[in-house]
Amino acid sequence: VLSRYLDGMMVRTFRQSDVDELAAAADIPVINGLTDDFHPCQALADVMTIRERLDTFEGVRVTYLGDGNNVCHSLMVACAKLGMDFVAATPQGYEPSEEVVSWTKAAGNVSGSSVELTQDPRAAAEGADVLYTDVWTSMGEDEERERRLADLAGFGIDDGLLQLGSERAIVLHCLPAHYGEEITEEVLYGPRSAIWDQAENRLHAQKALMALVIR
Ligand code: NVA
Repeated sequence: VLSRYLDGMMVRTFRQSDVDELAAAADIPVINGLTDDFHPCQALADVMTIRERLDTFEGVRVTYLGDGNNVCHSLMVACAKLGMDFVAATPQGYEPSEEVVSWTKAAGNVSGSSVELTQDPRAAAEGADVLYTDVWTSMGEDEERERRLADLAGFGIDDGLLQLGSERAIVLHCLPAHYGEEITEEVLYGPRSAIWDQAENRLHAQKALMALVIR
């Protein structure tokens, strides 16, 4: 009945299958506002910010550090589609899903971009044009917090890691951030941070998406 009330809906929930089921049953556009597996609206704002700051997607190397989660999945898909090289540096056990990696590699073969996984944050940061991170404990994972803090230590973005990036390197984070965990306060508010433009761009990217899909 929601299809009769509304012109479209955005759903933010946990299981991806719940959004898929809703979309299959609906006659109106259903936008994924975040699930355990994907965060596509965030990725739209991310790539918009990258293009604003670096002027191009060509030859751009995007490094994601930390938990290979929903934000990482959507970012890697967007990078592969747009031809940006993508590196995920995660501890063992925190890699992005194999299914998303293989899908992304196939898309990268078409666009001419690469996808790499590593457990070495310094090697991943070397020459990066974009350094991206997200919280180490996502919504619904609160009881794992202590274990995650221990496992992900060393994968946060600090000034030392940022120095390894390229001369044009920018830092992105989907917010909210936990200072001293995945990112330091200095980097978050520092000159390389494009995080506030990125946050603003959620608004513009979301409006563009609605204009595109809602009839
Ligand atoms: N990975 C985070 C993103 C928050 C915008 C979460 O799912 O909680």
